[in-house]
Amino acid sequence: MIKMEKVKKTYGTGPVQVDALKNIDLEIKENEFVGLIGPSGSGKSTLMNIIGCLDVPSSGEYFFESERVATFNHNKLAEIRNKKIGFVFQNFNLLPYATAFENVEIPMIFMGMKARARKARAMELLEKVGLEGRSSHKPSELSGGEMQRVAIARSLANNPRLILADEPTGNLDTKSGDEILAIFQDLWKQGHTLVVITHNPNISARAQRVIRLIDGKIENNGG
Ligand SMILES: Nc1ncnc2c1ncn2[C@@H]1O[C@H](COP(=O)(O)OP(=O)(O)OP(=O)(O)O)[C@@H](O)[C@H]1O
Ligand SMILES: [Mg+2]
Repeated sequence: MIKMEKVKKTYGTGPVQVDALKNIDLEIKENEFVGLIGPSGSGKSTLMNIIGCLDVPSSGEYFFESERVATFNHNKLAEIRNKKIGFVFQNFNLLPYATAFENVEIPMIFMGMKARARKARAMELLEKVGLEGRSSHKPSELSGGEMQRVAIARSLANNPRLILADEPTGNLDTKSGDEILAIFQDLWKQGHTLVVITHNPNISARAQRVIRLIDGKIENNGG
């Protein structure tokens, strides 16, 4: 599904350059569940941003579904991010004034889906994460674990093959974290590919493969 060859990422210009990624070679196959671990500043989010087509390497090649991402224009990149990749973040990134239901609907509005199908799908996704009873709640009226479940439902709106999560349980207690893990395991069983950055040992223990980054390099690719 994804392949990287000698990917480097350098931030900044002049005297204060940071080599965030150094020569990353990586392959992730369809329907793998990969845990991405490593110390703070080791380049995990940088790597995930490139995998998610949110950022580009400074050098090296990145292939998404065998296509060279460097050749994609702005529209094609946006389409891949919307249709093929679901993003989940540590701080949930929900719209504060929108209900749980509306938050899940939003990516489908962007995709031009008709209201009826969209509303049915939003409710189906909220049911999938066990939140059908909270659909009219705003984020401030939800627990952290519930907010993250809304964010996961939203990430699934366009049925992406690949789900990328950056510290999804970082702001959650153990019980809520385990609920998120159970949802990820379900998604994996249903055929999605998952890449999850985590410090949560319960998650890395359940991942099929664990990649460890140290100082911008893959120390162990679990494969
Ligand atoms: N936009 C940026 N501009 C300059 N330097 C950056 C930028 N983003 C990240 N860095 C630097 O690149 C390195 C890797 O950062 P990255 O965010 O990928 O680490 P991380 O492994 O996700 O860390 P954490 O576990 O703390 O989230 C760090 O040294 C960081 O300071
Ligand atoms: Mg990070």
